[in-house]
Amino acid sequence: MYSEKVMDHFAHPRNVGEIENANAVGLVGNAKCGDIMKIYMDIQDNIIKDVKFKTFGCGAAIATSSMATEMVKGKTVEEALELTNKAVMEALDGLPAEKIHCSVLAEEAIRDAIEDYRKRQNA
Ligand code: FES
Repeated sequence: MYSEKVMDHFAHPRNVGEIENANAVGLVGNAKCGDIMKIYMDIQDNIIKDVKFKTFGCGAAIATSSMATEMVKGKTVEEALELTNKAVMEALDGLPAEKIHCSVLAEEAIRDAIEDYRKRQNA
């Protein structure tokens, strides 16, 4: 029921952990199941130099978090904001319909972190 890519990112998630001195931190909860994702970014000159995450959630949430962090690493803030859960799912060769809500966590956490970054810039 899960694609090979989903299983790979679930079994070997990329970018797991925290970034000390991150200048963007996002924290979101999934309204449907209560799972949580925290994301840390190091943004320099508008580029996401590094990104790490911790997801307290199901396998699909971990796999999408892993893929989403890979997709925004090295991108500009604006490019990262354009990342959709649909694009992440496509990169993972799809998710079962009942797991689509899990993929929203990563998209929202990225947006939350960038909002945090922008607030800090304007502080
Ligand atoms: Fe909660 Fe998947 S069941 S994120």
